[in-house]
Amino acid sequence: MSSLAISSVLQGGYQHPLSRSWQAKRTLTKGMLMYPIFITDDPNARVEIPSLPGQCRWGVNKLEEFIGPLVKKGLQSVILFGVPLNCAKDDKGTPADDPEGPVILAIKKLRALYPALYIATDVCLCEYTSHGHCGVLHDDGTINSTPSAARIAEVALSYAQAGAHCVAPSDMMDGRIKAIKRALIDAGLGNKCTLMSYSAKFASSLYGPFRDAAGSAPSFGDRKCYQLPPQAKGLARRAIQRDVVEGADIIMVKPALPYLDIIQDAAQLAPDHPLACYQVSGEYAMVVAGARAGVYDLRTMAFETCESFLRAGCTLILTYFTPQFLDWLDE
Ligand code: PBG
Ligand code: ZN
Repeated sequence: MSSLAISSVLQGGYQHPLSRSWQAKRTLTKGMLMYPIFITDDPNARVEIPSLPGQCRWGVNKLEEFIGPLVKKGLQSVILFGVPLNCAKDDKGTPADDPEGPVILAIKKLRALYPALYIATDVCLCEYTSHGHCGVLHDDGTINSTPSAARIAEVALSYAQAGAHCVAPSDMMDGRIKAIKRALIDAGLGNKCTLMSYSAKFASSLYGPFRDAAGSAPSFGDRKCYQLPPQAKGLARRAIQRDVVEGADIIMVKPALPYLDIIQDAAQLAPDHPLACYQVSGEYAMVVAGARAGVYDLRTMAFETCESFLRAGCTLILTYFTPQFLDWLDE
């Protein structure tokens, strides 16, 4: 006879693959995945990004060949990042809302090609400013908050007017959520465009491949005066609560895997909002590199990371693994 107490015997509850699946509060589905894509201003481009294996910069004319097969496999949403390589950058990021720029052209093209596809756009100035920072600067190089939020709201509104279903400011300027929500409402788009805030965005080492891909590294200094310090749980909680009050429709935590505690906090602080996390470029590159080094199986590890995001409380995951998950979730 076993000497274990009855309450000590757990294995009977998960001895079968199906009973194991019932242990999840939330299961990964295709609709939870948002695919980050890079759109550049050479309309015929398809250029691989060496630090982001398997990802490319795409020109607007190539979107059909790129996105068409993914939509067939069940892709439901994308988030667009502009990569201007041929434009004149300035201190206000003027090319960000150029009506002929890659993001606005891509919004229109994707809306026309795939009416059911949900199109989000990242909103930031760093890809478009001469100094590479995410806002407008004072002469001494520090952030000038009020014009920064105003300029970012202008850019967000242009993307919404071009047809984006969602605008997602990643700049971390104080006051930008309120400024964007106000601008959307005043333009009659309050009920037509979702505002997803990168609320708890940390100053992370994991954005390196993205900055390569988007050409958005700052020309001097760093982003530590606007992105959150990695050790700052309290600030993250305050930023989440602030963005809820200012009118965000979706809260995001970024990066994801090293910040699962913040995701869990966000789920508790904003229980009535969808909660997103961004498995950023460096996280993706780490998972791929580890698999290539034989540390683990790629697919098993990719599932383990995304399942941890769901367990922590996410309902939406931005991940470069989206195309692979569309296959894996069918198997
Ligand atoms: C721009 C922006 C960044 C990312 C998303 N939007 C880079 C940064 O803040 O330096 C990172 C995404 C990724 O690494 O995949 N502000
Ligand atoms: Zn930026």
